[in-house]
Amino acid sequence: PKEIRILGIETSCDETAASIVKNGKEIMSNVVNSQIRVHQQFGGVVPEVASRKHIQNIVMVVHTAFAEAGMSYDDIDAVAVTNRPGLIGALLVGVSFAKSFAYALNKPLIAVNHLYGHIYANFLEHDNIEFPLVCLVVSGGHTSLLFMQDIENYEVIGETLDDAAGEAFDKVARFLGLGYPGGPAVERAAEKGVKGRYQLPRVFLDRDDFDFSFSGLKTAAMNLWTKMERRGEANVYDMAAEFQAALVEVLAVKTARAAEKYKARSILLAGGVAANSELRRAAQIEADRLGIKLYYPSLKLCTDNAAMIAGSAYHKFINGQFASLDLNAYATMSM
Ligand code: KG4
Ligand code: ZN
Repeated sequence: PKEIRILGIETSCDETAASIVKNGKEIMSNVVNSQIRVHQQFGGVVPEVASRKHIQNIVMVVHTAFAEAGMSYDDIDAVAVTNRPGLIGALLVGVSFAKSFAYALNKPLIAVNHLYGHIYANFLEHDNIEFPLVCLVVSGGHTSLLFMQDIENYEVIGETLDDAAGEAFDKVARFLGLGYPGGPAVERAAEKGVKGRYQLPRVFLDRDDFDFSFSGLKTAAMNLWTKMERRGEANVYDMAAEFQAALVEVLAVKTARAAEKYKARSILLAGGVAANSELRRAAQIEADRLGIKLYYPSLKLCTDNAAMIAGSAYHKFINGQFASLDLNAYATMSM
């Protein structure tokens, strides 16, 4: 059988990324140009700045992906690109580039859903993942629980009704003065603190659906913090530890409940927040209790990258699901 090499392009937020993946499995190159340092001075991602940085960097990033793979442009079989969801201006840079590149090389174009890419990161690194499974997708923009019958068929069984998990981390970190991106900053602060010294709610833990809500937790954390500051009893480490614990407990317990109800044989974690070691630990305890396997991507593949885009396009290539040159980008989506 012929080897299929796909170039993936990812520009949905603040990373300009390109990668070449062989047969949906073997990562030939994985280049991520992060704009974190640029956005740090603003305390968060500035969409206009992100678009401009993508424009500046995309050619160099794609060129590097070919160089690292030791391949020339004509060696690829298709061009895959994230076209939803994300910052619209940022997405359009990747989509426009991918369309031109595919057209110039006369190669097929494949559109990839960013969240599906995050899920697929697990399949790049782990073999023989058993279905059916439950997947928790937790990123800066999304929090969803999916039930997957197989790699191409999934159903959303729950999602956040307000803020995404990563968004809550980012907002609370900003409020506590911990910096951007908030997730890793809160995680580092939490290591020096003790959970339970402050008390925050486990929102929606007692509901028997699979939906989440983090906006109330964020507000509760901010109110408690202001009160403690007034009393001169504010400890940022203890606050970070309790906030992280409250968020992680709800995620891990509700994911396990879903796995039980749907008789899942595996649990997957995906998206930037899957990099959180407290979430990984809590989910592992739940999976062990249920006697099923837990998978999550390595740190590099949890946060935004293009290997997950190039990898997940393989099945579309095999099925002949190509996009036409009038492909558009979309900020939002339903999965
Ligand atoms: O998947 P991702 O890179 O981009 C989106 O698709 O949104 O996720 C970024 C999010 C940010 O909110 C960031 O704070 C969070 O993932 N994140 C973490 C950690 N690393 C990144 N959250 C908690 N703990 C971490 N270690
Ligand atoms: Zn992402």
